[in-house]
Amino acid sequence: MTLCEYRPGLEGIPAAQSSVSYVDGQRGILEYRGIRIEELAEKSTFLETSYLLIWGVLPTKEELDAFEHEIRYHRRIKYRIRDMMKCFPESGHPMDALQASAAALGLFYSRRDLHNPAYTREAVVRLLAKIPTMVAAFQLMRKGNDPVQPRDDLGYSANFLYMLNEQEPDPLTARIFDICLTLHAEHTMNASTFSSRVTASTLTDPYAVMASAVGTLGGPLHGGANEEVISMLEEIGSVENVRPFLDDRLEHKAKIMGFGHRVYKVKDPRATILQNLVQQLFESFGHDKYYDIAVELEKAVEEKLGQKGIYPNVDFYSGLVYRKMGIPIDLFTPIFAIARVAGWLAHWKEQIEENRIYRPTQVYTGLHEATYIPIEQR
Ligand code: SDX
Repeated sequence: MTLCEYRPGLEGIPAAQSSVSYVDGQRGILEYRGIRIEELAEKSTFLETSYLLIWGVLPTKEELDAFEHEIRYHRRIKYRIRDMMKCFPESGHPMDALQASAAALGLFYSRRDLHNPAYTREAVVRLLAKIPTMVAAFQLMRKGNDPVQPRDDLGYSANFLYMLNEQEPDPLTARIFDICLTLHAEHTMNASTFSSRVTASTLTDPYAVMASAVGTLGGPLHGGANEEVISMLEEIGSVENVRPFLDDRLEHKAKIMGFGHRVYKVKDPRATILQNLVQQLFESFGHDKYYDIAVELEKAVEEKLGQKGIYPNVDFYSGLVYRKMGIPIDLFTPIFAIARVAGWLAHWKEQIEENRIYRPTQVYTGLHEATYIPIEQR
């Protein structure tokens, strides 16, 4: 075995062999199981794409019907989980609430039978079904309301928006939201997926795997950036202020949220699709000045940082979509998590099918043979 040099952030170091998804960062290509993201966004649904990611093939009509049916059946959450969530402080971030509730699922479904396909199926269905219900329940309860029960006559995305707003969404909104979930479902060895694989490799239960991945997704350098983008656009406030704002940020060596990517050196293909979705929403429901600010910022960043390969990533336009749908800003990252559960589950399954515990090494930079100094002499 050849020893590699240390690379901060493990840049360029393969952490797994995987057939779940593929990114070509120079050409701006993303594929799930070999199928281009543009095609899936146009023709598939989030649940069909989840099936593809997790089981590696597109389902037949019967297989998809059965999968959707099982997920509908498992959407409800235990009243004890609801009661536990009622005790969470309403000022707490919904990502923390989600991480705690995802972990709590492990208390109720504690049997661990990782190599039994029926167990895998059950865990996949439960997690895809219950995570949206938990996100919506926390949103209602922190406002002092009882959670809304899921509706079996609604599809996956329409039901989530219904539980969140206590109102059935119009079909265009539900479809656009579903496409957003498809776009966020998977993205090779990003930080939260790596986290899920490390946790999975200890052969713990899938609920602990999801909880660790949710915790990792929340940070502002990862999924949490979609919230920061909206605060940034609000702070900029006008198209005229874009360039002065950018110059000031760059002078202070601050990061521009929603831009840059470890792998993409061109515009993230998901950002292009999301930008089209924002435009569709605005055509139907009215324009938003923050879109103009975002477009101007994209132009200005390209001029200043394009040569460094810094372009919009997935988090740049997603917030504008959710904002137009009236979704509170601090739910943007939990919504990212609802989608990414599909990718995390695909990697959990792949990891345990050919498992070896993650145990990398380190470059030690500390002392040797140091002397213990008694406390009174320090
Ligand atoms: C996601 O990995 C995935 O696949 C993630 C994701 C997924 O689907 O799972 O795509 C989702 O997490 C999207 C990223 C969301 N984060 C942000 O938008 C936060 C802002 N972006 C950055 O902080 C940064 O670009 C990262 C975290 C996304 C990538 O970090 P890297 O690869 O460690 O890059 P870096 O910070 O070392 O930057 C390299 C250079 C630096 O300049 P130099 O010191 O070499 O001169 O690029 C500059 C950076 O200063 N740079 C930026 C910048 N991003 C990088 N400068 C200004 N603004 C930025 N956003």
